[in-house]
Amino acid sequence: MRKKVIAGNWKMNMLPNEAIDFIDQFAPLVKNTENEVILCVPYTDLFYALLHVQGTNIKIGAQNMHWEESGAYTGEVSGKMLKSIGVEYVIIGHSERRQYFAETDETVNKKIKSALSNGLKPIVCVGETLEQREQGITKNIITDQVEKALEEISAESLKDIIIAYEPIWAIGTGKTATKEDANETIKQIREKIAEKYGQNVADGVIIQYGGSVKSSNAKELFEMSDIDGGLVGGASLKPDEFSKIVNYK
Ligand code: 13P
Repeated sequence: MRKKVIAGNWKMNMLPNEAIDFIDQFAPLVKNTENEVILCVPYTDLFYALLHVQGTNIKIGAQNMHWEESGAYTGEVSGKMLKSIGVEYVIIGHSERRQYFAETDETVNKKIKSALSNGLKPIVCVGETLEQREQGITKNIITDQVEKALEEISAESLKDIIIAYEPIWAIGTGKTATKEDANETIKQIREKIAEKYGQNVADGVIIQYGGSVKSSNAKELFEMSDIDGGLVGGASLKPDEFSKIVNYK
């Protein structure tokens, strides 16, 4: 049985004092969950958040990283730096990064490799645009993204990788994929992984759904056979709402 992993992606929101207030309110609400709970916070909140989640079941992630460990890359933060302060997870290849910051399948692959070699667990995002969905090429787009993201990644590493299927048209729009559509695409991702690494590995990989997840739809999504939890944007900014998603049962 795969566990459910529910991660909040705060994107470019929350000052350190707001992050601390959030954790103070949120931690008691999720302390009894069996699900894994992750908060992916802005760089400027990381250190405060890490201190504040001590003694709780909440894990902390970053939202991006550079693939080099150090060097002349003004404004960038490396996986080695994240690891040095105790970060455990890092989102890689979010569609907003692909769209606004020119990330490609190649840079996503480099970042995943660097994250793994620094002992970080990548949450790798894939997703199709509305146009691609309407053209009926979702499966090709998604399996191609997965294939390229996982190039030269060993089967052994798959236990440390989370994949987040986030249809771009569902992000921040209030439009959620139907549970059947989301499950179907996630199944296709799992099949792709089975083709590359074997069924055993594929059966163990955590694959989340993301895109307008809220407390009112979390249960129906997370109870689907192949959906192993969610990557949650807007609804992860409110402790009460996000705790209801974590405690969806
Ligand atoms: P929303 O939940 O706000 O749609 O965002 C989803 C997302 O992009 C999480 O990474």
